[in-house]
Amino acid sequence: MFTGKGGVGKTTCAAATALHHASRGEPTLAISTDATPSLTHIFESEDDNVPPSLSIIEIGEREVRQMWDAKFGREVYEVFSAFVDISYEEFVEFITSVLPGLGEEFMLDYIREKSLAGTYQNIIWDTAPLGQTLSLLEMPALLGEHLRMAPRVYSRLKLGRHSREPVLDILKRWEMLSATNVDFLRNEVHFTMVTIPEALAVAQLESVFQELGRYGLAVKRIIVNNVVMSPDSEFLRTKARQQEQYLKHIRAKYGNLMIIELPMFPQEVRGPQKLGEVQKILIQGGL
Ligand SMILES: Nc1ncnc2c1ncn2[C@@H]1O[C@H](COP(=O)(O)OP(=O)(O)OP(=O)(O)O)[C@@H](O)[C@H]1O
Ligand SMILES: [Mg+2]
Repeated sequence: MFTGKGGVGKTTCAAATALHHASRGEPTLAISTDATPSLTHIFESEDDNVPPSLSIIEIGEREVRQMWDAKFGREVYEVFSAFVDISYEEFVEFITSVLPGLGEEFMLDYIREKSLAGTYQNIIWDTAPLGQTLSLLEMPALLGEHLRMAPRVYSRLKLGRHSREPVLDILKRWEMLSATNVDFLRNEVHFTMVTIPEALAVAQLESVFQELGRYGLAVKRIIVNNVVMSPDSEFLRTKARQQEQYLKHIRAKYGNLMIIELPMFPQEVRGPQKLGEVQKILIQGGL
């Protein structure tokens, strides 16, 4: 999983890593959970194609609703519609918007199922900017809490001729699903933090590490992107000097992690050829 604040190069690094594996013939899935994904876009190029072993999936709101449908939708609706007059579509819209973290939960569950199916040798996960991703990480736990409370609430509901047992069963299943997803995050997912050598990005690192730590999630690697490597103008020398203090800070503070520094390129990184340059540096750096 590639995580980090907005615009630091998560999608670029995820795409380059996915390309590396796929170009060796390994079945690889590049998957984005960003509501406004750019993963497909970054692979697009006029002069080169992505290898056939690479699959790309972008999951957005629509897909999340389909997952809800497949897993719980109808069953829960049947019970609720016994005492609330609501159409199925309205019900799904309501439930996916009010329940804490439902969307995130299903995205995570989707990735876990892909991993379990064993179709892919590598799953490279490109995430939305930090705020959204942190809520993705904490939601299974929050949802878990909600679900533990829920039986008390739902057991007081007057469900008329409908038994409350199906609802309690569903909640139980759901709680288990949440716990399974948290375990998956803890044990199967390797976190790579992408950042840039600038004040705000570096300041945020610390709180993000703490936040992740609270859920027992450990970051394995840091990619520092947009580093000015060969400053041959006054403009770039000034930039490089400014970056140097933040690079020093990162090297000193996170010396126990793998740190890879990625140069700032003069052109945007798009298409397999350009991604290939990024890929080489990431792999040489130990990714
Ligand atoms: N090392 C680099 N040198 C030059 N341009 C870069 C570099 N890394 C990324 N870019 C460019 O910066 C832009 C943002 O990169 P990218 O989309 O990978 O960031 P992101 O962290 O995924 O952004 P978001 O938070 O919006 O998802 C893109 O246009 C990309 O081509
Ligand atoms: Mg992105």
